[in-house]
Amino acid sequence: MSTTHQAAIVPQKGGPLAVVQRETPTPAPNELLIQVHAVALNPVDIYQRDMGMFIQDYPAVLGSDVGGIVVKTGSSVTLAPGTRVTAFASAFMHKGSPNYGALQRYVLVSEEMVAVLPESYSFAEGCVFPMAALTSWNGWLWAGVPREASSKGKEGVLVWGAGSSMGSFAVQGAKLAGYIVYATASPQHHEYLKGLGASRVFDYKSGDVLEEIVDAAKEDGLIIKIGYHATGSQQLSVDVMDALRGDGEKVKLAIAPMVDASVKVPESVETAFVSPPEDLEARHEQCAWIFKTWLQEKLAARQVVVSPKIKVVEGGLESANKALDELKAGVSGVKLVLEL
Ligand SMILES: NC(=O)c1ccc[n+]([C@@H]2O[C@H](COP(=O)([O-])OP(=O)(O)OC[C@H]3O[C@@H](n4cnc5c(N)ncnc54)[C@H](OP(=O)(O)O)[C@@H]3O)[C@@H](O)[C@H]2O)c1
Repeated sequence: MSTTHQAAIVPQKGGPLAVVQRETPTPAPNELLIQVHAVALNPVDIYQRDMGMFIQDYPAVLGSDVGGIVVKTGSSVTLAPGTRVTAFASAFMHKGSPNYGALQRYVLVSEEMVAVLPESYSFAEGCVFPMAALTSWNGWLWAGVPREASSKGKEGVLVWGAGSSMGSFAVQGAKLAGYIVYATASPQHHEYLKGLGASRVFDYKSGDVLEEIVDAAKEDGLIIKIGYHATGSQQLSVDVMDALRGDGEKVKLAIAPMVDASVKVPESVETAFVSPPEDLEARHEQCAWIFKTWLQEKLAARQVVVSPKIKVVEGGLESANKALDELKAGVSGVKLVLEL
């Protein structure tokens, strides 16, 4: 194996990315070196490239979502080299530290952020899961969704902006946990989201969307105390959660994007930015459950599907800037992926 590999680095604040050779690192005891075959792109990659958010030093390497093959492992890792995996490369948790970003041929990942990827998923399909699984479960667990699945009867959840990557996966997670799922999205995604497990989907652009959701919940006899805001108007999703709650009840809304400080949140609605626990031990334990237990089991049983649909941007690492520009211009119901 060569001692260097190809990487798309951010040479300086504001980018653009440049493809260079860099030294291939060796995993620490709790790390794996992954040969990257596919990378899914996320909005945080744009914030890092264009604004230098979550970057301490340059050059930096971005990217979180990896599909690839284990090539080397640290002494405390049990997965064998040669295993196909989907893994979370924590580019922003490591503040852009170049060994930990996905946009390169070899990347280091922490052992609790890895799930075995069955042969039935291609690498391009498999790379969409890590950010989505981590983000949706960090939100659901905070909001009170239990880890163990069970039928919740007439208990429901609301997913706002379910046409997005995070939202569509939050729909899958809540359905598998046993909830009845209401979602909002543009009309062209409604049937797709029902296929993922949503029982009703509402057009967030409808002027009557709040009344439509509240009336439907009444008609279905549904109790909704938990919500997941993936994207869109935070004020509207807060207002809908408030309107759905019973007299004297409190509701919780997990918010994936940066929290909009201008939103008026009544006392009856508890909101929080979606993030893993601050305590490092609790964070490690929660991530290990998400990847090594929940995601790995659901992938093995084919109980989760790739959502939204993937779109491969041709050209590998050389196309990373182009693909990020396409994401920045706005996507609807697709996940952009680079194959390396
Ligand atoms: N907290 C975390 O750890 C974390 C992790 C990952 C992502 N995030 C954040 O989560 C957000 C979603 O990320 P993503 O990758 O899932 O986004 P994405 O897939 O790029 O989102 C695109 C979707 O947004 C929907 N959308 C646009 N405007 C909307 C509106 N006004 N109301 C409802 N939906 C609207 C569109 O839905 P339609 O096509 O239906 O119109 C489109 O399909 C981003 O802000 C991202 O930064 C946070």
